[in-house]
Amino acid sequence: MFTLKKLADGDVSPNKVDLGIGVYRNEQAGYHELEAIKQAKKILDERNPGHDYEVTVGNPTFLKHAVRLIFGSSSQVLQDKKVASVQTISGTGANHIGALFLSRSAKFSGKTAYVGIPAWGNYGPIFRLAGLEVAKYEYYDIQNGVHFPEIPQLVRTAPAKSIFVLQSCCHNPTGADLTKEQWDELAEAFKNHDVLPFFDIAYQGLGAGIDEDVYGIRRFAELGLEFVVVQSFAKNFGLYSERADVLHIVGKDEENARNIGDQLRCLV
Ligand SMILES: Cc1ncc(COP(=O)(O)O)c(C=O)c1O
Repeated sequence: MFTLKKLADGDVSPNKVDLGIGVYRNEQAGYHELEAIKQAKKILDERNPGHDYEVTVGNPTFLKHAVRLIFGSSSQVLQDKKVASVQTISGTGANHIGALFLSRSAKFSGKTAYVGIPAWGNYGPIFRLAGLEVAKYEYYDIQNGVHFPEIPQLVRTAPAKSIFVLQSCCHNPTGADLTKEQWDELAEAFKNHDVLPFFDIAYQGLGAGIDEDVYGIRRFAELGLEFVVVQSFAKNFGLYSERADVLHIVGKDEENARNIGDQLRCLV
């Protein structure tokens, strides 16, 4: 992508159209600001929050709203205080801190992260850099679509403590997501096997809807599973430059989530 972008930027054709990186553009091919962001900036300007230091794990109000967007404001996991959340430098940074946390934990050190292909190209380098092994499996092909029921079958047979990267919605790069029934079946496979779901969500609200796009995550939460969610706001808010994103980890209980939160604070 990096090389392709450099070549495209250097192309002087007046007719060129850049379809490389997934961002909205206006008619002049420049930054497209969403109306909600325009309004939010006005409010920020009036309130002038300043630029004082923030606590290490990030702005508490931002995190409170981010976690509600994922799990729903009346979610049981939030009432039970089972989620540890930290602000990260972009969704890419959330993936990195999540992978690093697992790689440094007694349970997942040296374990394998399964990435369905085709996939966002950064998973492999991010997980390997953190010290985990990476294995690929077929997520989708053009003849057969999403490989179901092969994916839950792989979950049932993978070695214990394997990590499975799952995209919650708007799968990058295929656009092919699981149906609700498929999420239900996959959640059951995870519930009955000792492997860890690692959700990546970079497009909440750009698929079927805010709540529909997190159907899988909320189903896994309802079943009482422990898992990771990395949440990017770059695309759905058009906040590409802000790099204000979040890593959530759902623990076993409140005490476990507090300990996870403390470890994440150290990593941040
Ligand atoms: C599936 C997926 N995950 C994560 C990211 C990274 O998001 P960010 O731009 O916030 O680093 C992207 C960005 O393209 C993506 O498509």
